[in-house]
Amino acid sequence: MRMFRRHLLPWIKVLVCQILALALVLTLLPMLPDDLRFGPGWVLLFEGSVAALFGLALRLPRIFFPIQLLLPLAILYSDVVPAWAFLIAFVLFALVYWNSASEQVPLYLTNAKAAAALAELADGSGAKSLVDLGSGLGDVVLHVARLKPEISATGIETAPLVFALSRLRVWLARRANARIVYRSLWDEDLSAYDLVYCFLSPVPMPRLYEKARREMRPGTLLVSNSFIVPDVTPERVVAVEDGRRTQLHIYRMG
Ligand SMILES: C[S@@+](CC[C@H](N)C(=O)[O-])C[C@H]1O[C@@H](n2cnc3c(N)ncnc32)[C@H](O)[C@@H]1O
Repeated sequence: MRMFRRHLLPWIKVLVCQILALALVLTLLPMLPDDLRFGPGWVLLFEGSVAALFGLALRLPRIFFPIQLLLPLAILYSDVVPAWAFLIAFVLFALVYWNSASEQVPLYLTNAKAAAALAELADGSGAKSLVDLGSGLGDVVLHVARLKPEISATGIETAPLVFALSRLRVWLARRANARIVYRSLWDEDLSAYDLVYCFLSPVPMPRLYEKARREMRPGTLLVSNSFIVPDVTPERVVAVEDGRRTQLHIYRMG
């Protein structure tokens, strides 16, 4: 059920948004005066914009906004797009979804409410240092660093483009207590942190928990967004009041 909600439901919503937007545009088009007839490219761009707005109303993740916007145009012009454009798109996707095949961890992002809940949790537990293992675009690092200046926030990331963008964001934010490091999470020494955060997938969780137990200091916290450690009962679960009903599973090291 969780896999359906996370992976299939967004694409079903995309389809619904596109159909609704197309129906709306087809209804509106005949009402336009003759001198306001636009070419098919503009009509589809408008249709994509409407679908993208519907997607926002349906709380689709932000990554779907450009997808919805450009999808109708991509379908219409698929035969005139030059081959090199597909190569560039492929390379860009590879640089973003670098870890999807090897680690079976795709890219999806912690939302602002969950990041704020994590910042409160870190503060409440007295943590002075936090690491986000697989830090994506750096949202968690930036949120925590901004909300809790006394906490030093580190992000660890290996997808090249994602790493570069998050580094840029952190540099632009000019937060002395935030940093992003290009390193595999498996090579990071977790004993340096009071709180270790991850939002990965079910696959690495057993191995990650073993690593955490070996390296983390007693009393420190491993917090997993959404994905549980099989056969281990968390000390507690924080339910975040966001659109996707995020759960933060908290494991205290013994
Ligand atoms: C689901 S995203 C979470 C992003 C971020 N933590 C957040 O919550 O917004 C998982 C991230 O982990 C990264 N990742 C996967 N395996 C990794 C590894 N071995 N070392 C470092 N990063 C990794 C992926 O590239 C991806 O950006």
